[in-house]
Amino acid sequence: MIAGVPKETDAGERRVALVPALVPSLVKAGFDVLVEAGAGEAAGFSDAAFVEKGARLAPSPEALWREAEVVFQVRGAGSNPDTSAGELARLRPGQAVIGFFDPLSNPDEVAAIAATGACALSMELMPRITRAQSMDALSSMATVAGYKAVLVAANALPKMFPMLMTAAGTVAPAKVFIVGVGVAGLQAIATARRLGAVVQAYDVRPAVKEQVESVGARFVELPLDTEAAEGQGGYAKAQDEAFYRKQRELMARVVAECDVVITTAAIPGRKAPVLVTAEMVRGMMPGSVIVDLAAERGGNCELTRPGEVVVEHGVAIHGPLNLPSTVPHHASQLYAKNIVTFLLHLAKEGKLALDADDQILRETLLTRDGAVVEPRVRGLLGLPEAGAPAQEG
Ligand code: NAI
Repeated sequence: MIAGVPKETDAGERRVALVPALVPSLVKAGFDVLVEAGAGEAAGFSDAAFVEKGARLAPSPEALWREAEVVFQVRGAGSNPDTSAGELARLRPGQAVIGFFDPLSNPDEVAAIAATGACALSMELMPRITRAQSMDALSSMATVAGYKAVLVAANALPKMFPMLMTAAGTVAPAKVFIVGVGVAGLQAIATARRLGAVVQAYDVRPAVKEQVESVGARFVELPLDTEAAEGQGGYAKAQDEAFYRKQRELMARVVAECDVVITTAAIPGRKAPVLVTAEMVRGMMPGSVIVDLAAERGGNCELTRPGEVVVEHGVAIHGPLNLPSTVPHHASQLYAKNIVTFLLHLAKEGKLALDADDQILRETLLTRDGAVVEPRVRGLLGLPEAGAPAQEG
C-alpha cells in the first residue's frame, strides 16, 4: 500500500505530516512511502533525508495524489478555502485521507469529500482514551501552542520575566495569568515558570487545581459553582451567560494586576467564551500583553482580532491563528508520530482494515463509501442518523 505525504497547500502552514525518522516504521509495516518534493522543507526536513530513510519522491502533487492510497496531511483536503477545490478534485474513491479537517466547523467540506468517494479520518476527533494517547494530535499541538504563546508574550512585553538582583537594582518578576488550564495552559505555565515569572492560573474544572500547583503556579480560587463543569472526555462544558458574567467580574482584579494574560479557554465545537472584556483590558497596566489562544474560535478576549495584534488602552492583544506552525520542526515531529501510530493501528498486513468495532476508527471516521458517517457532522448537515431508513442528501 502506498502512503503519500503532499506538501501542505496553505501558504502559512510550515508543518509536514511525516518526518524522515518515521519512514522506516511505515516501510517495516509494508508501506511504500511517497513524499512530494519539498514537503518537509519549511520544517527543516530535506528531500534527501526522506529518501535516505527509504521514501520515494513524487515530482508533483498530481503524481502523489494519483499514486497514494492513504494520504497524510496536516490540514486535510478541503479544509483550506484557498486550495480546497484543487485538492478535492484529486481525491478518488477508496483513497484514505488523514488530517485535521475541523469537521464540526466545516461540515460542508466533509460532505464535499464524501462526494469524491474518499474516506476521511479526522485527527481532531481522536477519542481521549488511554489507548489513543499517542495518536492525540490535538494535545501535541496544544503543547507546542502553549509553549510558544509564552514566548510571544515575553517578546512583546517591555519587561523581563525573571526577578533579577543586580548592582543596578532589583527587577521584579513578571506576573502571568493563565486562563484555561488544559494541555496548552499547563505547558504555558511550565514555560512561564522556566522563564522566571510568577504565575497564577484558573480553570472551571476543579480537578485542575492540583495540576496547576504541581507545575509551580498558584490556582486562583473564584467563588463560582463549578461542580458540574467537566463533561465527557475531560473537556469543559458550556456555562450560561450569568456564569461567565460572574467569572469576568471575579477575574477582573487578577487580570488588572498581571503583566501577561494568556487565555486558552475552549468548549469543543462551540465559540470560545468571552472572559476578558474591553473594560477589563482598560483596567490593565499599559505595556501589558494578552495572548489569546482561543482566537481561532472567536477569542476569549472581547478585543481579539483573529490573526492580528491590536493595541488598545496601551495593551497589546495577540490573536495568533496557528502557533504550532511557527515551531514547525518539533510540531511536525510530534504530529507525524501521532499520525503514524494511528495508521499502524488501522493497518493489518500492509492494508487498511476499517474495523467498525474499533472505537478509535469509529470516532475519527468522517466519510466512507460516498457518505458522511460521523454523527455530529451528519446532524450539522441535516442528514438523518446513519442507518436510518431515509434518503441521503
Ligand atoms: P480545551 O482546549 O478544550 O480547553 C482548554 C481549557 O479551557 C480546558 O482546561 C477547559 O476546562 C478550560 N475552560 C473552558 N471554559 C473555561 C472558562 N470559562 N474559564 C476557564 N477555563 C475554561 O482543553 P484540552 O487542552 O483539550 O484539555 C482538556 C482536558 O482533557 C485535559 O486537562 C485533560 O483532563 C483531558 N485530556 C485527556 C487526555 C487523554 O485522556 N488522553 C489527553 C488530553 C487531555
